[in-house]
Formats: sequence, C-alpha cells, structure tokens
Amino acid sequence: MGRAKITVVGAGNVGGTVAQRLAEKNCYDLVLVDIVEGVPQGKALDLMQAGPIYGYDSRVVGSNGYAETAGSAVVVITSGVPRKPGMSRDELLATNARIVQGVVREIAARSPEAILLMVTNPLDAMAHVAHRVSGFPKARVLGMAGVLDSARLRAFVAAELGVSVQSVQAMVLGGHGDTMVPLLRYTTVEGRPIEDWLPKERLEALVQRTREGGAEIVGLLKTGSAYYAPSAAVVEMVEAILKDQKKVLPCAARCDGEYGIRGLFVGVPVKVGRCGAEAIIEYALSPAERTALAASAAAVKELCDIVDRLP
Ligand code: NAI
Ligand code: 2OP
Repeated sequence: MGRAKITVVGAGNVGGTVAQRLAEKNCYDLVLVDIVEGVPQGKALDLMQAGPIYGYDSRVVGSNGYAETAGSAVVVITSGVPRKPGMSRDELLATNARIVQGVVREIAARSPEAILLMVTNPLDAMAHVAHRVSGFPKARVLGMAGVLDSARLRAFVAAELGVSVQSVQAMVLGGHGDTMVPLLRYTTVEGRPIEDWLPKERLEALVQRTREGGAEIVGLLKTGSAYYAPSAAVVEMVEAILKDQKKVLPCAARCDGEYGIRGLFVGVPVKVGRCGAEAIIEYALSPAERTALAASAAAVKELCDIVDRLP
C-alpha cells in the first residue's frame, strides 16, 4: 500500500505551512492546489528540495487543477480571501462561500471517499457549505478551530504559571469567533482545576486574550493572519484521522441534537479517527456554559442562513 494522499487547497500561508509540516512527517504524498499560477508548483518544488536536507521522501506536487488530487484520503481546504479594509463580514462570507463551493465540487468529484478538513473562515459556516455541497456523510466533514483556540488558551496559561504547555489541558467549544466558549471547568494543570491555580481576574484576562487571539496576531502582522499555530492544529487533526488515533479534540462537527444544537457545525469535543468525526462527546455543562454554547450556535446559524440564501 502506498502512502496516503493528502490534498491541501490554498497554497497561501496556512496551506503552505500545512504542506511543510506534513512533508516533514515523511509519511504522506501531498498535492498543493491554488488558483494563482506558479505558486503551488513553486512551493511544491521548494518542499521537495528540502527533503534531502531534512531527511524526507514525501512526494509534493503543485497544481492549478484537480486531476492530481484524485483519490485523496484527506483534503484540507484553506482557499479563501481575508477581509479587506471596508469589506463587511457578510461580503467575506459570500466570497469565501463561493470559493469553498467551487473547490468542494471539484474535490468531491475526484475523491468521493475523502475526509474534508475545513480551515477557511468563517469556519463553521464554511464547514456547513462543504457538507451541503459535497453530499458527504457528516462524519467526513470537520472544521479546524477548537484545537487552535484551545492551544492559545493552553499557551497563555502555561506562560502565566511558568509550567510546560504539555501539563495544561483545555477545551474551547463553540463557533470560531467572539462567541467561543472556553470551558474553564475542564481546563486543568495535570488534573488540578485551573481555578485552584489562578485568581478569577487573571483567568478572565487569559480567556479574553484567547477570544481575541486571532485579532491580536492580525494587529501585529498587519497583512495576513496567524498560520504557524493554525497549521500545527490542522496537522494534529490530519494525523488523528490517518493514524486512527481516536483523539478527543475540539472540532467543528455537525450536531444533530447533541448539546441541544440541530443541523449546525459548531465546535464540540469529537472522537477523531479514520472515519473522521466518529462521535461527538457530550460533556456535562453547567447552565451558564450551555447558554453560552447556545448563543455561539445562534451566531453560527445567522451566517449559515445567509449562505443558504446566496444565489
Ligand atoms: P492566504 O491568503 O495566505 O491563502 C489563501 C490562498 O487561497 C491564496 O493563496 C489564494 O490564492 C488561494 N485561493 C483563493 N481562491 C482560491 C480558489 N478558488 N481555489 C484555490 N485557491 C484559492 O490566507 P491564509 O492565511 O492561508 O488563510 C486561509 C484561510 O484560512 C482564511 O480564510 C483564514 O481566515 C482562514 N484561517 C482559519 C483559521 C481557523 O482557525 N479556522 C486559522 C487561520 C486562518
Ligand atoms: C485565527 O484565529 C484568523 O481564524 C484565524 O487566527
């Protein structure tokens, strides 16, 4: 059996870095697709030429078309445009929904058994579009956001306490946006609840910084948004799938009654394995957490209603 084929659509900052991180695993064949002529081909060549130095034989092919993507096991979709000055959130939504729609049609036709891993923003609504357009079973459409948002909270907690990030566990649920729901009751340092480590005001400050984590980086970079942590989060999810790890990760998955949410992709704890989103795990939530998750789902629904009405 050959190596699993992974396609990454969008050879920009996130897509290019995902390709690099996956190439360095030396386990997969990669196809990088973008509409800009030369860019996926150039990045693929550059990644192949890093192989002898880094010690990997991963095949990396760049293309402006989809023929090479046929038979992919996992497809990571990062294609889209960022918000430009003066552009409303709804305009971004419509533009990226059209891009994602076109990409998913091409992918689904050539890789009917693939698992789609969505990255393009607004994330939860784009997962909704991918599910609708592909016609794939819901288990084979996942969105990346919770792993990133949880990693941000873990990094901030670890820095505040001066402990290793590996000792900090966190679970951020909800939509990828201002309404995300960090579950502090499930945030622990080696099993000890975070509330025993930090005073309430400090915790609130770290949660707020997590909510604004994407914007903080945009503000510093000025052009473009984060990609090192996002690409690391994507790779954790890809490997959970292809290595059938059954890791419980916060992912955008389609809820059909779980947490009282129906017919929407929202960040929830998911058992991730070779079949994709193999199960949504229902944590016991307090009334306040449940209300916050419902509010986040309502915000996601507003965006999904807009994309469903697009011509
Ligand atoms: P980028 O602008 O560097 O890359 C996007 C790429 O998509 C560009 O190379 C562009 O040419 C390509 N593209 C546009 N239309 C296309 C089409 N029809 N077919 C193929 N390729 C196409 O952006 P970056 O930083 O890589 O971010 C990508 C997306 O991921 C954005 O929507 C961003 O907001 C989102 N994002 C989401 C995160 C999450 O947590 N879910 C985290 C980080 C980024
Ligand atoms: C982030 O959270 C832009 O969604 C992206 O960094």
